[in-house]
Amino acid sequence: MLELNVHIRDALLTWYRASMRTLPWRDAPTPYHVWISEIMLQQTRVEAVRSYYTRFIDAIPDIPSLAALEEETLLKYWQGLGYYSRARNLKRAAQEVMEKYNGELPRDFDALLSLPGIGRYTAGAILSIAYHLPYPAVDGNVLRVVMRLAGFSLDILQDTTKRRVEEALLPILPDQGKSCSDMTQAFMDLGSSICLPKKPLCLCCPLSSFCRAYADDLTDALPYRSPKKKRRIEKLTVLRLSCQNQLAIRQRSSEGLLANLWELPHLNDYYKKQSLLDLFDDRGYDVTHIEKLPVKKHIFSHIEWHMQGWDIKLASTSPKATGVKEAPAAYMSSDEAFPDQLVWASEEDIANRYSIPTAFSYYL
Ligand code: ADE
Repeated sequence: MLELNVHIRDALLTWYRASMRTLPWRDAPTPYHVWISEIMLQQTRVEAVRSYYTRFIDAIPDIPSLAALEEETLLKYWQGLGYYSRARNLKRAAQEVMEKYNGELPRDFDALLSLPGIGRYTAGAILSIAYHLPYPAVDGNVLRVVMRLAGFSLDILQDTTKRRVEEALLPILPDQGKSCSDMTQAFMDLGSSICLPKKPLCLCCPLSSFCRAYADDLTDALPYRSPKKKRRIEKLTVLRLSCQNQLAIRQRSSEGLLANLWELPHLNDYYKKQSLLDLFDDRGYDVTHIEKLPVKKHIFSHIEWHMQGWDIKLASTSPKATGVKEAPAAYMSSDEAFPDQLVWASEEDIANRYSIPTAFSYYL
């Protein structure tokens, strides 16, 4: 069992109160504010979240307005943040909070955990930061700080490690009050500004005199991380397909990666110019311009897209009435039922109406 020195609390709170960052979600936050900011901050950097958060809270100021919002509008506010299931879960959870809890996030750990998209970290952050209750909120940064402090050598990627770290924090949390909020955010700030993954700034650290890893010269070795699985690489041919001032887009399937969002049409694997021209010709479309665009990579947590872009202009958005041949079977798999399911959208519609994930933004 790892044990943390209770004096860590005072040293950490003193440091935090002198050096805390000013962030838009730190100004007298309601539980709703903490919830939205913490969900945005999962997998997204603080600097990137700032402007999204302010815009989101201005437009959707409370749980009733979130519960009532159209999903398409919500996704528009989320566009660019990625991991869109986070936004869908926010709406589902807001609806449940309206139905079961009278529009207020519950002050109870298990009740929070039962809401879509709220895990142990977010529940702990809401209870400590907004409700001033003694709960730990252990994200990747906090995990690293505590594992170094305690010289804890288990694998950081194992779920059980997180539980052990939460348990280790319990004895040093304040009883209640604003200190609970400060303690949670102090650990986060220490992790993101001083106890860095590589080259931690131990000489500036308010906790270095308590730190096992520092004492034993193990800050490079801790936390231990088992080797990661390689991401799967998917090659795509992405089409920037236009006709006059309209661009072709299509909606993704309602399941899986980027569900229901809109995208530029694409084909699996890379295609040669002539194969693309044949594809359009076989379906009765006149191509008036075709140009290869640069290859772009987009990295998701478990997949990498390597995209070969093509700028293609058509004479008309519909095929010629005569001479349309059957599309070759190779193009007819459900993923590539193309170009039948296209929607032709203006630049204005693309900016205001359709949510298109960042992966395609280069070609837009
Ligand atoms: N990272 C995750 N949550 C945070 C918060 N509330 N403040 C600063 N950085 C964070």
